[in-house]
Amino acid sequence: MNEFSIDLLHLQKSYARPVLKDINLHIDRNSYLAIVGKSGSGKSTLLNILGLVERYDGGVYRFNGNLIRNHTDYAKLRLRYIGFIFQSYHLIPTLTCRENILLPALYAPKSKRRSLDALAEALDIKPLLDQSVLTLSGGEKQRVAIARALILDPCLLLADEPTGNLDPKNRGIIFDLLRREHAQGRGVILITHDMAAAKEADAVLELKNGVLTER
Ligand SMILES: Nc1ncnc2c1ncn2[C@@H]1O[C@H](COP(=O)(O)OP(=O)(O)O)[C@@H](O)[C@H]1O
Ligand SMILES: [Mg+2]
Repeated sequence: MNEFSIDLLHLQKSYARPVLKDINLHIDRNSYLAIVGKSGSGKSTLLNILGLVERYDGGVYRFNGNLIRNHTDYAKLRLRYIGFIFQSYHLIPTLTCRENILLPALYAPKSKRRSLDALAEALDIKPLLDQSVLTLSGGEKQRVAIARALILDPCLLLADEPTGNLDPKNRGIIFDLLRREHAQGRGVILITHDMAAAKEADAVLELKNGVLTER
C-alpha cells in the first residue's frame, strides 16, 4: 500500500459564513479518528476537503509533505489514495453491485486493484454481485459501497455517518469492517453525531465553532 500523510495547518473554509476557522490535524495510516459535532458544524465540509472533493480558502493542506493548492489535480490523488463511504451509500441505481464496485476502476484503469472476489467474500456480498443495487437492504447497500471504496486499495477511508441509516446489527457489521481495514494499515476517519459510534475510533475530536478539540 502507498505510504501517506495529511497535515492541515490553520485550514479555513467559508460559505456564506465561516465554517472552518482554524483546523489543525495530522493523519496517517495509524489514524482511526472519529469527528463529532452538531449538525451544521462543518463535519462534511471538513471530510470533503480532506478527501479532495471540496476546495479550501486559507491555511495549508499538505499531502505526503506536498502543498495541495487549489489548482492541484485533485481527482488523480483522490482515486489513488482515498475511499469514501456515505450515509446514503451513493450507489448508481441503474447498475449492478459488481458494476458499482468496479466503477472507480473505470477512471483509473492502470491502478492497482484489489481482487473483487476476495473483497466480496470478506464483505459477505458474493451472492449479490449480479443483482441491481435497488434490490438490496440498507446493510447490503453499505457493504457494496464499502467494496467500491476499497477496490483501488486506498490508504485512507473517509466515512460520513456511514451507519446513520442502519439498525444495530448492521452498524456492528460496518464497524467491524472499518476496524479490520484499519488493522490492515488504512487510516480511517469516521464522522458521526453518535457518541457511542465515535467510541469505535482510537481518538475522538469535536468540531465546534470552526475548530477541532479533543474529547
Ligand atoms: N456547498 C455549500 N454551499 C453553501 N453552504 C454550504 C455548502 N456546504 C455546506 N454549507 C454550509 O456549511 C455549514 C456546514 O455544513 P456541513 O459541513 O454539511 O455540516 P455537518 O456535516 O456538520 O452537518 C452549514 O451551515 C451548511 O449550510
Ligand atoms: Mg454532514
